[in-house]
Amino acid sequence: DLGPYRHFMQKEIHEQPRALADTLEGALNSQLNLGDLWGAQAEAIFKDVNSVLFLASGTSHYATLVGRQWLESIAGIPAQAELGHEYRYRDSIPNPRQLIVTLSQSGETLDTFEALKRAKELGHGYTLSICNVAESAIPRASALRFLTRAGPEIGVASTKAFTTQLVALYLLAISLAKAQGKLDADTQATHLEALRQLPGSVQHALNLEPQIQSWAARFAGKEHALFLGRGLHYPIALEGALKLKEISYIHAEAYPAGELKHGPLALVDSNMPVVVIAPNDRLLEKVAANMQEVHARGGELYVFADADSHFSASAGIHVMRLPRHTGLLSPVVHVIPVQLLAYHAALVKGTDVDRPRNLAKAVTVE
Ligand code: F6R
Repeated sequence: DLGPYRHFMQKEIHEQPRALADTLEGALNSQLNLGDLWGAQAEAIFKDVNSVLFLASGTSHYATLVGRQWLESIAGIPAQAELGHEYRYRDSIPNPRQLIVTLSQSGETLDTFEALKRAKELGHGYTLSICNVAESAIPRASALRFLTRAGPEIGVASTKAFTTQLVALYLLAISLAKAQGKLDADTQATHLEALRQLPGSVQHALNLEPQIQSWAARFAGKEHALFLGRGLHYPIALEGALKLKEISYIHAEAYPAGELKHGPLALVDSNMPVVVIAPNDRLLEKVAANMQEVHARGGELYVFADADSHFSASAGIHVMRLPRHTGLLSPVVHVIPVQLLAYHAALVKGTDVDRPRNLAKAVTVE
Protein backbone atom coordinates (compact mmCIF):
# COMPACT_ATOMS: atom_id res chain seq x y z
CA ASP A 1 0.00 0.00 0.00
CA LEU A 2 1.54 3.26 -1.16
CA GLY A 3 -0.58 5.58 0.98
CA PRO A 4 -0.06 9.16 -0.20
CA TYR A 5 3.10 8.30 -2.15
CA ARG A 6 3.62 7.70 -5.86
CA HIS A 7 6.31 5.05 -5.58
CA PHE A 8 7.73 2.67 -3.00
CA MET A 9 11.00 4.56 -3.20
CA GLN A 10 9.33 7.79 -2.14
CA LYS A 11 7.42 6.00 0.61
CA GLU A 12 10.59 4.34 1.86
CA ILE A 13 12.49 7.64 1.85
CA HIS A 14 9.75 9.09 4.04
CA GLU A 15 9.71 6.09 6.36
CA GLN A 16 13.25 6.81 7.48
CA PRO A 17 12.50 8.68 10.73
CA ARG A 18 10.36 5.72 11.84
CA ALA A 19 12.83 3.11 10.57
CA LEU A 20 15.69 4.81 12.42
CA ALA A 21 13.72 5.10 15.65
CA ASP A 22 12.76 1.40 15.46
CA THR A 23 16.34 0.33 14.75
CA LEU A 24 17.62 2.40 17.69
CA GLU A 25 14.93 1.36 20.13
CA GLY A 26 16.74 -1.61 21.68
CA ALA A 27 19.99 0.30 22.22
CA LEU A 28 18.27 3.34 23.68
CA ASN A 29 16.02 1.31 25.98
CA SER A 30 18.80 -0.95 27.24
CA GLN A 31 21.44 1.79 27.65
CA LEU A 32 23.62 -0.08 25.17
CA ASN A 33 23.46 -3.61 26.58
CA LEU A 34 25.97 -5.44 24.38
CA GLY A 35 24.58 -8.96 24.81
CA ASP A 36 21.02 -7.86 24.05
CA LEU A 37 22.11 -5.89 21.01
CA TRP A 38 24.61 -8.17 19.28
CA GLY A 39 24.33 -11.63 20.79
CA ALA A 40 25.46 -13.54 23.86
CA GLN A 41 29.16 -13.70 22.99
CA ALA A 42 29.42 -10.04 22.03
CA GLU A 43 31.12 -8.78 25.19
CA ALA A 44 33.91 -11.38 25.05
CA ILE A 45 34.48 -10.99 21.31
CA PHE A 46 34.40 -7.18 21.36
CA LYS A 47 36.97 -7.10 24.17
CA ASP A 48 39.43 -9.11 22.11
CA VAL A 49 38.96 -7.47 18.70
CA ASN A 50 42.00 -5.57 17.40
CA SER A 51 40.69 -4.52 13.98
CA VAL A 52 37.57 -4.60 11.84
CA LEU A 53 37.10 -5.60 8.21
CA PHE A 54 33.78 -4.64 6.60
CA LEU A 55 32.55 -6.65 3.62
CA ALA A 56 29.55 -5.57 1.54
CA SER A 57 28.37 -4.53 -1.93
CA GLY A 58 26.78 -1.46 -3.53
CA THR A 59 24.98 0.92 -1.23
CA SER A 60 25.74 -1.33 1.75
CA HIS A 61 29.44 -0.91 0.93
CA TYR A 62 29.02 2.87 1.02
CA ALA A 63 27.55 2.55 4.51
CA THR A 64 30.72 0.73 5.57
CA LEU A 65 32.87 3.56 4.16
CA VAL A 66 31.23 5.79 6.78
CA GLY A 67 31.29 3.06 9.42
CA ARG A 68 35.01 2.48 9.20
CA GLN A 69 35.66 6.16 9.92
CA TRP A 70 33.35 6.06 12.95
CA LEU A 71 35.14 2.94 14.18
CA GLU A 72 38.48 4.72 14.14
CA SER A 73 37.14 8.03 15.55
CA ILE A 74 34.94 6.62 18.29
CA ALA A 75 36.50 3.27 19.23
CA GLY A 76 40.11 3.86 18.14
CA ILE A 77 40.12 0.49 16.37
CA PRO A 78 41.66 0.20 12.88
CA ALA A 79 38.96 -0.53 10.32
CA GLN A 80 38.94 -1.27 6.60
CA ALA A 81 36.08 -1.68 4.16
CA GLU A 82 36.22 -3.86 1.09
CA LEU A 83 33.85 -5.04 -1.60
CA GLY A 84 32.99 -8.71 -1.10
CA HIS A 85 33.71 -9.70 -4.70
CA GLU A 86 37.20 -8.17 -4.50
CA TYR A 87 38.06 -9.68 -1.13
CA ARG A 88 37.05 -13.21 -1.99
CA TYR A 89 39.49 -13.53 -4.88
CA ARG A 90 42.57 -11.87 -3.47
CA ASP A 91 45.28 -13.12 -1.17
CA SER A 92 44.78 -11.61 2.25
CA ILE A 93 46.39 -12.09 5.61
CA PRO A 94 43.98 -13.53 8.16
CA ASN A 95 44.04 -12.09 11.65
CA PRO A 96 42.21 -14.18 14.25
CA ARG A 97 41.45 -11.07 16.33
CA GLN A 98 39.89 -9.19 13.43
CA LEU A 99 36.12 -8.81 13.45
CA ILE A 100 34.59 -9.52 10.04
CA VAL A 101 31.46 -7.40 9.64
CA THR A 102 29.14 -8.09 6.71
CA LEU A 103 26.38 -5.64 5.82
CA SER A 104 23.47 -6.57 3.64
CA GLN A 105 19.90 -5.39 3.33
CA SER A 106 18.66 -8.66 1.84
CA GLY A 107 21.07 -11.02 3.60
CA GLU A 108 21.26 -12.98 0.33
CA THR A 109 23.78 -11.04 -1.79
CA LEU A 110 26.03 -13.73 -3.19
CA ASP A 111 29.15 -11.56 -3.45
CA THR A 112 28.90 -10.70 0.24
CA PHE A 113 27.95 -14.20 1.34
CA GLU A 114 30.87 -15.76 -0.54
CA ALA A 115 33.24 -13.21 0.97
CA LEU A 116 32.03 -14.21 4.43
CA LYS A 117 32.56 -17.88 3.61
CA ARG A 118 36.06 -17.09 2.37
CA ALA A 119 36.86 -15.21 5.60
CA LYS A 120 35.70 -18.21 7.62
CA GLU A 121 37.80 -20.58 5.49
CA LEU A 122 40.79 -18.37 6.22
CA GLY A 123 40.17 -18.96 9.93
CA HIS A 124 38.21 -15.89 10.96
CA GLY A 125 35.95 -16.82 13.86
CA TYR A 126 34.75 -13.35 14.85
CA THR A 127 31.93 -12.69 12.42
CA LEU A 128 29.09 -10.20 12.75
CA SER A 129 26.27 -9.48 10.34
CA ILE A 130 24.13 -6.35 10.09
CA CYS A 131 21.09 -7.26 8.05
CA ASN A 132 17.50 -6.21 7.38
CA VAL A 133 16.10 -9.74 6.89
CA ALA A 134 16.34 -11.99 9.95
CA GLU A 135 15.96 -15.36 8.26
CA SER A 136 18.55 -14.99 5.54
CA ALA A 137 21.85 -16.61 4.59
CA ILE A 138 24.38 -14.01 5.76
CA PRO A 139 23.20 -13.55 9.37
CA ARG A 140 22.68 -17.31 9.67
CA ALA A 141 26.36 -17.82 8.86
CA SER A 142 27.57 -15.19 11.36
CA ALA A 143 28.43 -15.56 15.06
CA LEU A 144 26.92 -12.18 16.01
CA ARG A 145 23.90 -10.48 14.45
CA PHE A 146 22.13 -7.15 14.43
CA LEU A 147 18.82 -6.70 12.70
CA THR A 148 18.04 -3.30 11.21
CA ARG A 149 14.35 -2.57 11.49
CA ALA A 150 13.78 -0.73 8.22
CA GLY A 151 10.89 -3.07 7.36
CA PRO A 152 10.53 -4.57 3.89
CA GLU A 153 12.28 -2.50 1.22
CA ILE A 154 10.49 -2.87 -2.12
CA GLY A 155 12.10 -0.18 -4.29
CA VAL A 156 15.18 -1.58 -5.99
CA ALA A 157 17.19 1.51 -5.04
CA SER A 158 18.10 1.17 -1.38
CA THR A 159 17.18 4.11 0.88
CA LYS A 160 15.87 3.28 4.35
CA ALA A 161 18.07 0.20 4.50
CA PHE A 162 21.12 2.47 4.07
CA THR A 163 20.30 4.91 6.88
CA THR A 164 19.36 2.11 9.28
CA GLN A 165 22.66 0.40 8.44
CA LEU A 166 24.43 3.64 9.27
CA VAL A 167 22.94 3.84 12.74
CA ALA A 168 23.72 0.16 13.30
CA LEU A 169 27.34 0.95 12.44
CA TYR A 170 27.34 3.87 14.85
CA LEU A 171 26.02 1.53 17.56
CA LEU A 172 28.81 -0.90 16.66
CA ALA A 173 31.44 1.81 17.08
CA ILE A 174 30.17 2.85 20.52
CA SER A 175 29.65 -0.80 21.53
CA LEU A 176 33.25 -1.70 20.69
CA ALA A 177 34.46 1.41 22.51
CA LYS A 178 32.41 0.37 25.55
CA ALA A 179 33.64 -3.24 25.57
CA GLN A 180 37.23 -2.02 25.38
CA GLY A 181 36.84 0.42 28.27
CA LYS A 182 37.14 3.49 26.03
CA LEU A 183 33.68 4.94 26.66
CA ASP A 184 32.95 6.70 29.94
CA ALA A 185 29.34 7.02 31.13
CA ASP A 186 29.06 10.69 30.11
CA THR A 187 30.32 10.05 26.60
CA GLN A 188 27.96 7.11 26.22
CA ALA A 189 25.04 9.29 27.33
CA THR A 190 26.07 11.98 24.80
CA HIS A 191 26.17 9.46 21.94
CA LEU A 192 22.80 7.96 22.89
CA GLU A 193 21.22 11.40 23.15
CA ALA A 194 22.56 12.33 19.69
CA LEU A 195 21.01 9.13 18.31
CA ARG A 196 17.72 9.91 20.03
CA GLN A 197 17.60 13.30 18.26
CA LEU A 198 18.48 11.86 14.86
CA PRO A 199 15.00 10.85 13.55
CA GLY A 200 13.85 14.44 14.15
CA SER A 201 16.77 15.87 12.15
CA VAL A 202 16.04 13.42 9.33
CA GLN A 203 12.41 14.58 9.36
CA HIS A 204 13.58 18.19 8.96
CA ALA A 205 15.68 17.19 5.96
CA LEU A 206 12.66 15.42 4.42
CA ASN A 207 10.70 18.65 4.67
CA LEU A 208 13.03 20.11 2.00
CA GLU A 209 11.38 17.94 -0.65
CA PRO A 210 9.55 20.77 -2.50
CA GLN A 211 12.79 22.75 -2.89
CA ILE A 212 14.70 19.67 -3.99
CA GLN A 213 12.03 19.01 -6.58
CA SER A 214 12.81 22.34 -8.22
CA TRP A 215 16.54 21.49 -8.34
CA ALA A 216 15.80 18.04 -9.74
CA ALA A 217 14.01 19.53 -12.75
CA ARG A 218 17.32 21.10 -13.81
CA PHE A 219 19.19 17.79 -13.50
CA ALA A 220 16.73 15.86 -15.60
CA GLY A 221 17.92 17.61 -18.76
CA LYS A 222 21.62 16.87 -18.11
CA GLU A 223 23.68 13.93 -19.26
CA HIS A 224 26.31 14.04 -16.52
CA ALA A 225 26.66 15.16 -12.94
CA LEU A 226 29.44 15.26 -10.36
CA PHE A 227 29.00 14.69 -6.64
CA LEU A 228 31.62 15.96 -4.21
CA GLY A 229 32.16 15.36 -0.51
CA ARG A 230 35.04 14.92 1.90
CA GLY A 231 35.68 12.75 4.94
CA LEU A 232 32.49 11.24 6.35
CA HIS A 233 30.56 12.74 3.43
CA TYR A 234 32.54 11.33 0.54
CA PRO A 235 30.50 8.09 0.89
CA ILE A 236 27.36 10.25 0.78
CA ALA A 237 28.56 11.73 -2.52
CA LEU A 238 29.09 8.16 -3.78
CA GLU A 239 25.60 7.22 -2.67
CA GLY A 240 24.06 10.31 -4.33
CA ALA A 241 25.79 9.48 -7.62
CA LEU A 242 24.73 5.83 -7.45
CA LYS A 243 21.09 6.72 -6.78
CA LEU A 244 21.03 9.17 -9.70
CA LYS A 245 22.62 6.61 -12.08
CA GLU A 246 20.34 3.79 -11.01
CA ILE A 247 16.97 5.39 -11.33
CA SER A 248 17.37 8.37 -13.69
CA TYR A 249 20.11 6.89 -15.92
CA ILE A 250 22.05 10.14 -15.73
CA HIS A 251 25.78 9.46 -15.68
CA ALA A 252 27.07 10.58 -12.30
CA GLU A 253 30.45 10.32 -10.65
CA ALA A 254 31.48 11.01 -7.09
CA TYR A 255 34.86 12.27 -5.97
CA PRO A 256 36.41 13.22 -2.69
CA ALA A 257 36.50 16.97 -3.35
CA GLY A 258 40.27 17.17 -2.79
CA GLU A 259 40.77 14.91 -5.80
CA LEU A 260 39.23 17.34 -8.31
CA LYS A 261 42.46 19.07 -9.22
CA HIS A 262 44.09 15.69 -9.87
CA GLY A 263 41.95 15.09 -12.94
CA PRO A 264 38.16 15.43 -12.89
CA LEU A 265 38.29 19.24 -12.97
CA ALA A 266 38.91 18.82 -16.71
CA LEU A 267 35.26 17.72 -17.06
CA VAL A 268 33.81 20.84 -15.50
CA ASP A 269 32.03 23.35 -17.72
CA SER A 270 28.64 25.08 -17.73
CA ASN A 271 26.91 21.82 -18.68
CA MET A 272 28.19 20.00 -15.62
CA PRO A 273 26.02 20.28 -12.51
CA VAL A 274 28.13 19.68 -9.41
CA VAL A 275 26.43 18.60 -6.19
CA VAL A 276 28.41 19.37 -3.07
CA ILE A 277 27.80 17.82 0.33
CA ALA A 278 29.02 20.64 2.54
CA PRO A 279 28.10 20.20 6.21
CA ASN A 280 29.55 22.38 8.93
CA ASP A 281 32.31 19.99 9.90
CA ARG A 282 36.03 20.56 10.21
CA LEU A 283 36.49 20.13 6.45
CA LEU A 284 34.12 22.94 5.49
CA GLU A 285 36.83 25.45 4.56
CA LYS A 286 38.52 22.80 2.41
CA VAL A 287 35.24 22.00 0.65
CA ALA A 288 34.62 25.72 0.10
CA ALA A 289 38.00 26.00 -1.63
CA ASN A 290 37.10 23.06 -3.89
CA MET A 291 33.80 24.74 -4.73
CA GLN A 292 35.72 27.82 -5.81
CA GLU A 293 37.75 25.65 -8.21
CA VAL A 294 34.49 24.49 -9.83
CA HIS A 295 32.92 27.95 -9.87
CA ALA A 296 35.97 29.44 -11.59
CA ARG A 297 35.54 26.94 -14.47
CA GLY A 298 31.88 27.81 -15.00
CA GLY A 299 30.47 24.72 -13.25
CA GLU A 300 26.99 25.05 -11.73
CA LEU A 301 27.10 24.27 -7.99
CA TYR A 302 24.25 22.73 -5.98
CA VAL A 303 25.32 22.88 -2.36
CA PHE A 304 23.75 21.07 0.58
CA ALA A 305 24.87 23.09 3.60
CA ASP A 306 23.79 23.17 7.24
CA ALA A 307 21.50 25.77 8.80
CA ASP A 308 24.37 27.31 10.74
CA SER A 309 26.73 27.68 7.77
CA HIS A 310 27.81 30.98 6.26
CA PHE A 311 27.31 29.98 2.61
CA SER A 312 25.21 32.24 0.49
CA ALA A 313 23.83 31.71 -2.97
CA SER A 314 25.08 33.74 -5.93
CA ALA A 315 25.20 33.35 -9.71
CA GLY A 316 26.01 29.69 -10.41
CA ILE A 317 25.89 28.72 -6.73
CA HIS A 318 22.64 27.28 -5.40
CA VAL A 319 22.51 26.61 -1.67
CA MET A 320 20.03 24.56 0.33
CA ARG A 321 20.17 24.47 4.11
CA LEU A 322 19.63 21.33 6.14
CA PRO A 323 18.94 21.31 9.89
CA ARG A 324 21.71 22.40 12.22
CA HIS A 325 24.87 20.33 12.01
CA THR A 326 24.59 16.92 13.72
CA GLY A 327 28.30 16.17 14.26
CA LEU A 328 29.49 12.64 13.56
CA LEU A 329 25.94 11.60 12.64
CA SER A 330 25.72 14.19 9.87
CA PRO A 331 26.01 11.64 6.99
CA VAL A 332 22.65 10.14 8.04
CA VAL A 333 21.00 13.53 7.57
CA HIS A 334 22.91 14.60 4.46
CA VAL A 335 22.00 11.50 2.47
CA ILE A 336 18.30 12.44 2.57
CA PRO A 337 18.45 15.30 0.03
CA VAL A 338 20.52 13.29 -2.45
CA GLN A 339 18.00 10.44 -2.26
CA LEU A 340 15.21 12.94 -2.96
CA LEU A 341 17.18 14.60 -5.75
CA ALA A 342 17.61 11.27 -7.57
CA TYR A 343 13.96 10.38 -7.01
CA HIS A 344 12.64 13.65 -8.41
CA ALA A 345 15.06 13.71 -11.34
CA ALA A 346 13.80 10.23 -12.27
CA LEU A 347 10.18 11.38 -11.95
CA VAL A 348 10.82 14.22 -14.39
CA LYS A 349 12.50 11.78 -16.78
CA GLY A 350 9.62 9.32 -16.43
CA THR A 351 11.70 6.23 -15.69
CA ASP A 352 10.42 3.19 -13.80
CA VAL A 353 11.58 4.38 -10.38
CA ASP A 354 10.89 1.24 -8.36
CA ARG A 355 12.13 -1.18 -11.02
CA PRO A 356 15.03 0.41 -12.89
CA ARG A 357 16.17 -1.39 -16.02
CA ASN A 358 18.75 -4.20 -15.77
CA LEU A 359 18.72 -4.34 -11.96
CA ALA A 360 17.42 -6.82 -9.38
CA LYS A 361 16.58 -6.18 -5.73
CA ALA A 362 18.68 -9.04 -4.36
CA VAL A 363 21.70 -10.04 -6.41
CA THR A 364 22.01 -13.77 -5.76
CA VAL A 365 24.22 -14.52 -8.75
CA GLU A 366 27.84 -13.73 -9.33
C1 F6R B 1 21.65 0.31 -4.66
C2 F6R B 1 21.40 -1.02 -4.16
C3 F6R B 1 22.49 -2.05 -4.31
C4 F6R B 1 22.57 -2.91 -3.05
C5 F6R B 1 23.58 -4.04 -3.24
C6 F6R B 1 23.75 -4.87 -1.97
O1 F6R B 1 20.55 1.14 -4.49
O2 F6R B 1 20.35 -1.31 -3.66
O3 F6R B 1 23.71 -1.45 -4.60
O4 F6R B 1 22.93 -2.10 -1.98
O5 F6R B 1 23.18 -4.89 -4.29
O6 F6R B 1 22.54 -5.42 -1.55
P1 F6R B 1 22.36 -5.97 -0.09
O7 F6R B 1 22.45 -4.81 0.85
O8 F6R B 1 21.01 -6.62 -0.07
O9 F6R B 1 23.47 -6.94 0.15
